[in-house]
Amino acid sequence: MSQPRIVVTRRIPQPALDLLAAHGDVWLSPHDRPLTREELFDAVTGADAIVCLLHDRIDDEVLDAAGPQLKVIANVAVGYNNVDTDAIARRGSVWFTNTPAVLTDATADIAMALILMTTRRLGEGERVIRSETPWVWSMFYMLGTGIQGKTLGIVGLGLIGQATARRAKAFGMEIIYSGRRQADPAIEQELGARYVSFDELLETADVVSLHCPLNAETQHLIDADRLRQMRSDAFLINTTRGPVVDEQALVDALRAGEIAGAGLDVFEEEPKVNPGLLELENAVLIPHLGSATVETRTAMGVLAAQNAVAVLGGEEPPTPVVRVG
Ligand code: DGY
Repeated sequence: MSQPRIVVTRRIPQPALDLLAAHGDVWLSPHDRPLTREELFDAVTGADAIVCLLHDRIDDEVLDAAGPQLKVIANVAVGYNNVDTDAIARRGSVWFTNTPAVLTDATADIAMALILMTTRRLGEGERVIRSETPWVWSMFYMLGTGIQGKTLGIVGLGLIGQATARRAKAFGMEIIYSGRRQADPAIEQELGARYVSFDELLETADVVSLHCPLNAETQHLIDADRLRQMRSDAFLINTTRGPVVDEQALVDALRAGEIAGAGLDVFEEEPKVNPGLLELENAVLIPHLGSATVETRTAMGVLAAQNAVAVLGGEEPPTPVVRVG
């Protein structure tokens, strides 16, 4: 009997590839870059399973190119704004899975790191040293903002939002949050978190940290008006997806001193970064490192592989987003 064809659109950690290879005939992209659309269409032709990454746009065209035997698409990411889930659901025969939970701590670590970097001006400090700019300790040199007793506003108290709040609480911050629904009372109690309206969060938080998924409702959730609602001494942190923030409006707000600073792990047109941001000392910019640890990326790859293998074996995958049947 022929083996199922499993297409992996870009190299993923070896334990994940080994798991897939034990359950099918794996085609792995030879390129260390995203496939072009044409390459993607060619690669997926005849696939039973597609293991894809956040830079692959998965839509009707890809589903058509794959063919009716396709059973599962496993995204190696928790965020899936790259995937047209409605198109998959319409087929009625293709599972779609993501990788929640395994990257929670790594991403929350990066959110906390950005909170510290922006409030304590660490990027600016490092640039002084690296550029060999003369400096000397003084009582008033490069003073930042302490976070103890300050308020962190979490937009979207999902797993990563909660893990960020847990870290910030350990640093002495008070937690408020907004979102579509109020969290479980046990979680609110553990974090000492108070559910507030989005308006109240923006108007009162010292640090606003974004943890909502990117979708039609959250595209440019933070625009010029929302930035103006924030306090002029507040900081914005984004570790979710770039398009949740109108990047040009953010540049304008930072330039005008409408907010105090921003820490960004994600960008509107990744990997491009708005040139205006590069000129700003009060913007900390890092290249989408939220889940970038060996342990986390391995766990993400393995979970995606487990999802694909489960479906190919006729079982329900561990972390489905779009189900069959
Ligand atoms: C995800 O999984 O959505 C992350 O952004 C990857 O780093």
